[in-house]
Amino acid sequence: MKFFIDTANLDHIQEANEMGIIDGVTTNPSLMAKEGIKGEKAAHKRYKDICNLVNGDISAEVIATDFKGMIREGETLAAIDEKIVVKVPMILDGLKAIKYFTGIGIRTNCTLVFSPGQAILACKAGATYISPFIGRLDDIGYDGMQLIVQLSGIFAVQGYETQILAASIRNPIHIIKCAEAGAHVITSPLEPILALLKHPLTDIGLEKFLADHQKANG
Ligand code: G3P
Repeated sequence: MKFFIDTANLDHIQEANEMGIIDGVTTNPSLMAKEGIKGEKAAHKRYKDICNLVNGDISAEVIATDFKGMIREGETLAAIDEKIVVKVPMILDGLKAIKYFTGIGIRTNCTLVFSPGQAILACKAGATYISPFIGRLDDIGYDGMQLIVQLSGIFAVQGYETQILAASIRNPIHIIKCAEAGAHVITSPLEPILALLKHPLTDIGLEKFLADHQKANG
């Protein structure tokens, strides 16, 4: 399972990248706004900076919601760097845009996927990735993880080439369960990734090793 980091924060990207476990980055308009990035020029500069930091796929989302607008924006985004994957929302024009981009060799990430039916349509249109949002399903009383399990089953039967990119990850258990369920990729903020690292017995064990070394060596 690949690990993407879900942020537009360069410090977080750098930190995760130095851990040696990052295979890509996802962003969205909310994450860009959180970093105070305003306007197309600033957004494009941030995408380029991220591409220069990370060796992997970098998702950049279109703002337009009509077919022509998405095509215009997506082609401009794809021209920033060959690492860019154009992120397109799961709406009718988005589906048409995915089909178009696939036809001209631009890779896509279909975002805001909440059901198996939406996922199947995105696969048929040729999406490189689909992004089912686990946390947001949990938020409204559905079991987000169940969607990942169901999609893994469908993908195994159908042999889709599209990759399941589990998104809206909120905690380390989400990541572990995605690995169990067979997600191809998870995208997570830095905190749940760092939480995977921690175990109290590791800290206690290390403290004892160092104390014993100190006793023996003075
Ligand atoms: O990748 C999508 C993700 O950023 C959404 O996460 O926590 O806003 O639901 P969240």
